[in-house]
Amino acid sequence: MSSRSTLFPYLRHFVVVALGIILFYSLASKHNQLLQYFRGALEPVPTNEGVIFTASQLLQYNGRESKSLYLVILGHVYDVTKGEKHYGEGQAYHMFVGHDATRSFVTGEFDHYTEELSDVSALTDTELQQLLTWRDFYDKTYPYRGKAIGRYFDQFGKETAYHRHVLDRAAKAEETKNAGTTYPSCNVEWKKDIGTRVWCTNRSGDGVERQWTGFPRKVVPSGNDDDDDQSRSVQFCACVPEEVSDAQYVAFAGCEASAVSCTIPDQN
Ligand code: HEM
Repeated sequence: MSSRSTLFPYLRHFVVVALGIILFYSLASKHNQLLQYFRGALEPVPTNEGVIFTASQLLQYNGRESKSLYLVILGHVYDVTKGEKHYGEGQAYHMFVGHDATRSFVTGEFDHYTEELSDVSALTDTELQQLLTWRDFYDKTYPYRGKAIGRYFDQFGKETAYHRHVLDRAAKAEETKNAGTTYPSCNVEWKKDIGTRVWCTNRSGDGVERQWTGFPRKVVPSGNDDDDDQSRSVQFCACVPEEVSDAQYVAFAGCEASAVSCTIPDQN
């Protein structure tokens, strides 16, 4: 028998063992990645945009699977565990944990959760603005945990067009609220068959006497270029000093810019 044929069985064993060792080390080196892959389905994933939660990951934080309680508003996730007396099982606001029920912050729909409760498209601009006040409350009160994939953030943690639209509308409401606060408001009275009269005195607005009287101007929130609307309604009237020429303050239709009193007839 040649030495080649006696070596062959050992060579075969050697190859099998060597392949086994290579396989073992390559699996061991991928261990963390494999672990990450399987855990990824259960735990939120950190990305450049912060930690991103899927709907099923969030559900784990409703106080049953995990002791932690996570609440979502406008797609932002907060750890409200320290507020267990409000959000724990059986408590008044338990419905809010484990998913996004943003709309309920305005409508008070607390009975049971449905996916539709994250939809705020039927709310008014002012109601959307209230939601931002709630979000500020959570920012100040509870630890922030990340973003929920859904209406407000995509799977990469980027803000959706829906989210931007909501923020724009809320900003519009804030602007309208602030409009006219720079100058004192006019006196206003309404008489049947005559309409609405607006006028300025040196005490109109806050009742505190000032050095100047001002002229009644309709306050138009910036970004509102609806001319027709401008001529029709009073909405908000401010007493503005003569020298102010700001597109936000317009003279009432049919009223001299220098008049201290204007009457706006009813439209019907
Ligand atoms: C749209 C309606 C409402 C919403 C969205 C709402 C939401 C909430 C939330 C989220 C909390 C917990 C805040 C925290 O984490 O500290 C809370 C607390 C509370 N709410 Fe409401 N609520 C609503 C209506 C009401 C009404 C009508 C009442 C009274 C009859 C009420 C009474 C309270 C009280 C007493 C607390 C606890 C305050 C404390 O112990 O610190 N809420 N509310």
